[in-house]
Amino acid sequence: MEASSMKLENVRQVAVLGAGAMGSQIAQLLAFVGGYSVTITDVKDEFINNGIQFIKDGLKRHFVDKGKMTQTQMDEVVDRIKGTTSIPDATKNAHFVIEAVFENLDLKKSIFKQLDENAPPDVILASNTSGLNLSEMAGATKRPDKVVGMHFFNPVAVMKLVEVIKGPLTSGETVDIAVALCKKLGKEPVVCKDFSFGFLANRAYVAMANEAVQMVWERVASPEEIDKALKLGYNLPMGPLELGDYTGMWALSVSSEQDRMVEVGPEKGHLHPLIRMMVRAGYTGGRGKKGIYDFYKEVLSRE
Ligand SMILES: NC(=O)c1ccc[n+]([C@@H]2O[C@H](COP(=O)([O-])OP(=O)(O)OC[C@H]3O[C@@H](n4cnc5c(N)ncnc54)[C@H](O)[C@@H]3O)[C@@H](O)[C@H]2O)c1
Repeated sequence: MEASSMKLENVRQVAVLGAGAMGSQIAQLLAFVGGYSVTITDVKDEFINNGIQFIKDGLKRHFVDKGKMTQTQMDEVVDRIKGTTSIPDATKNAHFVIEAVFENLDLKKSIFKQLDENAPPDVILASNTSGLNLSEMAGATKRPDKVVGMHFFNPVAVMKLVEVIKGPLTSGETVDIAVALCKKLGKEPVVCKDFSFGFLANRAYVAMANEAVQMVWERVASPEEIDKALKLGYNLPMGPLELGDYTGMWALSVSSEQDRMVEVGPEKGHLHPLIRMMVRAGYTGGRGKKGIYDFYKEVLSRE
């Protein structure tokens, strides 16, 4: 029997899987802008507490301290977010699910299987994957028509774009609800098919970032000079190298490679050896970690 369909106006409770950088920011967006009750899930209480603390710190710094929100309003937002390490507990009453665990296909497939087994049958299961194949996640469920990509950009509170990814079996209704949810959250969705590696924005951006990395490798200029040229030459708010350091996308590129995703699509074999070398040496970028600016200063410029 076909499950009855979910309507956005009936969504009140959203489950977010993964309390890391993206999961915690998505949970905040859902609770703050969407007014939803949110359950955030991770493998350890410690990770959930860190995610919720990250949300509190951000709301305090950006809103309460600037007089844009009272402490009471902030507490109301935070109270709407509950944590649990149990996927069944998080999903049994959920009306919508957004997965944001590590970018690893086997992990995501096992999570989607559990989500399918526990979430009510009409519930949409969305993934925040940056580029893994959605059909593989949909294949781990008995509701491939209700599996969709919702690729948020970092920092979630600031970035307007969400890429909504439609797998071959994703229904039009599922895409429409995902698009409507993005709009309700104040975002600007674009719809894309799931066979474009890196979807839309990253696919084009990666080509530019790779060329910038190659210029560092050739020592034609420092990361600062390369970013400055791109920012001023193309009116970009941030250069690709500082963006990579900020988001930690260097490490994500390597983990995607381990998932063999660079083998599909035009970027095949394009992961630059400098990125692999940097990440292996611990210069991954991301929250508080060293990246290509430090690697250039501490290693490349001294060779
Ligand atoms: N960081 C970015 O800029 C960015 C941007 C867009 C999309 N994404 C995507 O978002 C997803 C998450 O990335 P992130 O940067 O937040 O990673 P992260 O490492 O900060 O967080 C991932 C979290 O998932 C948790 N996790 C792992 N296994 C789990 C399980 N079985 N159940 C529940 N939680 C589990 C980890 O403990 C961790 O807290 C990835 O798919 C990534 O590609 C990341």
